[in-house]
Amino acid sequence: MSTPVKKVPIHLQSSQNRLLIRHGQVVNEDGITEDDVYIEDGIIKQIGRNLIIPGGTRTIDARGKYILPGGIDPHTHFEFEFMGAKSVDDFYQGTKAAISGGTTMIIDFAFPKPGESILDCFYNYRQKADDKVCCDYALHVCLSHWSEQVKREMELLTKEHGVNSFKMFMAYSFMLNDGELYSAFEQCQKLGAVAQVHAENGSIIAKNVEKLLSKGITGPEGHELSRPEDIEAEAVNRACVIAKQVNLPIYLVRVSSVASANAIADRQSSNQRVFGEVEASSIGVVGNPRDPKLVTSPPIRSSPDTSAELLQFLSSDVLQLVGSDNCTFNKAQKELGKDNFTKIPNGVNGVEDRMSVVWEKGVHTGLIDPTRFVAITSTNAAKIFNLYPRKGYIGVGSDADIVIWNPNATRTISAKTHHQAVDFNIFEGMVCHGVPEYVIVNGRVIVDEGQLRAVQGYGRYIESPAFPPFVYDPEKVADLKPERNGTVEEEIQNIREIEKIHL
Ligand code: URP
Ligand code: ZN
Ligand code: ZN
Repeated sequence: MSTPVKKVPIHLQSSQNRLLIRHGQVVNEDGITEDDVYIEDGIIKQIGRNLIIPGGTRTIDARGKYILPGGIDPHTHFEFEFMGAKSVDDFYQGTKAAISGGTTMIIDFAFPKPGESILDCFYNYRQKADDKVCCDYALHVCLSHWSEQVKREMELLTKEHGVNSFKMFMAYSFMLNDGELYSAFEQCQKLGAVAQVHAENGSIIAKNVEKLLSKGITGPEGHELSRPEDIEAEAVNRACVIAKQVNLPIYLVRVSSVASANAIADRQSSNQRVFGEVEASSIGVVGNPRDPKLVTSPPIRSSPDTSAELLQFLSSDVLQLVGSDNCTFNKAQKELGKDNFTKIPNGVNGVEDRMSVVWEKGVHTGLIDPTRFVAITSTNAAKIFNLYPRKGYIGVGSDADIVIWNPNATRTISAKTHHQAVDFNIFEGMVCHGVPEYVIVNGRVIVDEGQLRAVQGYGRYIESPAFPPFVYDPEKVADLKPERNGTVEEEIQNIREIEKIHL
């Protein structure tokens, strides 16, 4: 039986604080300006120089620092029951950690248990998350099986619950076959939803696993051996081929290999609309096949060049965004697979360190500039999931989700100091330039001169409308999608009106 979800009026949640950020460099994906930013009631109200603002307003001096849109992590798994274990970061600790690292919105995956209705699963995730989240969040819904009921519930979720993305798996026991993928893709296309695919060839992996175990290879090194790069690239290509049959834009999650990125580039060069997400773990860590703590799927590749090559693909827009795929299991949980690598719960941390790792490996090394950093850590996620310009943008009318980033300060990542529940950190010891000294969430200063003061339940569930114009060509779907025209400011005003109707 479905349980109705509580909705908390926005005016009860948002901060009444007034805040002025002065002398910083405002970075959006399309440029950097020297402007002051004035915030009231959780919204950016003015941007410019010599602003006239009410007395008594708190001022933060951002001289020598960047003012960035808060990060959006498009891929987390909090409180996820998976492979006989439950991920240890819950929606409170996970979002608190996210904020401490400069991420002000996360998108988690509602993952149905075997046989569970996807609608009930969505309600269950809302109930788990609503009272715990410290920052705003949205939900993708996973299609772990295919049926007429799933198809109907996708429509309800899209039209009535603000879900605009569905994830399908080509690996694991719950993978969909090609025919099922075709049907699910058709439904995504009809609804204007973003089709996300975990691309690995599950049938071949099963064969490889059988062979490795029969040869006595039971340790963690069996994981990457069973899932080589072309197993990933083949599935990426196949997903694209199927999507093309139904004229569907497609989003590949967790692109971990150069072979997959090349497959995406090929498809894009024949004008197919394909988006690719890379994980912070693939950028910050070189895979060590002997370490069970690094086991995640697709694997963190053990080639030392992968990180720089994936960053090049991010820089050239073959790949568009960086997620964390934060799915944390403690050392003891990882030990479940000590005699059989297929039993190691898959997943690693990243929600807290994603921004720092990308800055360090991308911006500090000179591979990408701060505007591209903003695009791949925030703006592109907002555009793809139809949250832009409310999120992922520093402009008048946008939500005041802002990070004041000191590019000259450093911090060392460690499980001893991180805010996540997990008892180790895959980036342990990494020194990162670029520190989020202030993190402002809906107008409230949550990280204040480096001090974290997260508020449980302060975040909101954000509805994501169908037919994102960045994904679905607005010309081609004009007769299907709701009318959305006008300037950025008018568009934000429309969103606020819709919110009022929903409350
Ligand atoms: O290994 C991973 N990525 N664990 C989480 C489940 C998934 O595939 O997203
Ligand atoms: Zn996945
Ligand atoms: Zn995942």
